[in-house]
Amino acid sequence: MESTITTYNIERNDIGNAGTVASLTKRALKRQGLSREFVKTVTIGVYEAEINVVIHSYGGEVTVEKADDYIEIIFKDVGPGIESIENAMTEGWSTASKYAIENGFGAGMGLPNIKAVSDEMDLHSSKEGTTLRIRFYITEDCYER
Ligand SMILES: Nc1ncnc2c1ncn2[C@@H]1O[C@H](COP(=O)(O)OP(=O)(O)OP(=O)(O)O)[C@@H](O)[C@H]1O
Ligand SMILES: [Mg+2]
Repeated sequence: MESTITTYNIERNDIGNAGTVASLTKRALKRQGLSREFVKTVTIGVYEAEINVVIHSYGGEVTVEKADDYIEIIFKDVGPGIESIENAMTEGWSTASKYAIENGFGAGMGLPNIKAVSDEMDLHSSKEGTTLRIRFYITEDCYER
């Protein structure tokens, strides 16, 4: 059975609050009895995706869903979108603003890291905005014992 654990809004350029979605998701997943290791892996992906919405989009929302055998997180934002998904997925490729770089972002590693930690990743983008869906499979050993 699939259930929505949480939905959050993410504000554009709100670097002061960046990481909030990742920490709330972390808490929600721990409450589900999921292991530290599993939760850590999911949190890395959520954090990178959250930051991307903050620094690259005009704002968006995120939904965290849980099914018996997976956690799925969907980020939907409003423009400007990604011109080339292929470039965006390349390690070190970044269009981060001066503001984002000054705040420690812009290494061009977020999307490659999300790909590495997740079990499934779909990225769709147009000038209207970007949707990222990431899924993490839950196996028996993903629960705290
Ligand atoms: N939600 C988004 N909206 C618009 N562009 C995006 C979005 N997410 C990623 N991008 C584009 O893809 C590029 C690569 O993203 P990625 O997360 O890999 O690196 P980064 O955010 O630039 O740097 P880092 O994640 O290492 O701090 C970004 O520089 C940006 O051009
Ligand atoms: Mg990034």
